[in-house]
Amino acid sequence: MSVQYDLEGQKRAYAKWAPIYDSVYVKLLADAQKKAAAAASRCGPDILEVGVGTGLVLPYYPAGSRVTGIDLSFDMLLKAVEKKTSRNLRHVRGLAAMDACALGFPDQSFDAITVPFVITLVPDPEGALDEMRRVLRPGGEIVIASKLGANDGATAQIEAALAPLMKKVGWSIAFKSSRLSNWAAGHPDMEMLDITPVFPAGFFKLARIRKRQA
Ligand SMILES: C[S@@+](CC[C@H](N)C(=O)[O-])C[C@H]1O[C@@H](n2cnc3c(N)ncnc32)[C@H](O)[C@@H]1O
Repeated sequence: MSVQYDLEGQKRAYAKWAPIYDSVYVKLLADAQKKAAAAASRCGPDILEVGVGTGLVLPYYPAGSRVTGIDLSFDMLLKAVEKKTSRNLRHVRGLAAMDACALGFPDQSFDAITVPFVITLVPDPEGALDEMRRVLRPGGEIVIASKLGANDGATAQIEAALAPLMKKVGWSIAFKSSRLSNWAAGHPDMEMLDITPVFPAGFFKLARIRKRQA
């Protein structure tokens, strides 16, 4: 099946976001971003951040790590480069323009991959996860922070009732957490470790998927 990509539309949208993104999101996303960076750094020093954006997460990785960030949007990446320089983030080893679904790295290059607030924006999330699995070392983790809709139960009903309001402020519940679990279940070498609620009041989730040791 071919997937329709509107990567140019995505780039145009983030060219508009780049100048204001940090002021809008720095506080709201910080808890999930810090927890994602901490979980990734427990796996080892070589970390890939997919959809690094303006680099809001970059200061949260520990000094001993070696972080590479990729993003579709040059405008967002320019902000990340500015941050690396102005804050002397020496653990940031590379920032590059790249599509999450076509990662230009050899197999098994990274100990962990962080995906903060990106996976729901990618037109082919399973294709992106396949690429992450390829470049991840055995024993490593894919750490995803996002708004993930509940699969069922009371939370799913409340979310459905609030969906029109959430849409007005740019958030969607359409991407269910089961999409990640189903992808992991389809690959014998991958296992869903946990999906935990984070600030504010569990609105965002942190999902960790591990690549089993060979
Ligand atoms: C909401 S921002 C998140 C930025 C950063 N990770 C953070 O937590 O602040 C989403 C970012 O994902 C990028 N993005 C969207 N689709 C992408 C794709 N297919 N490949 C790489 N980056 C993508 C956008 O350009 C944007 O910078």
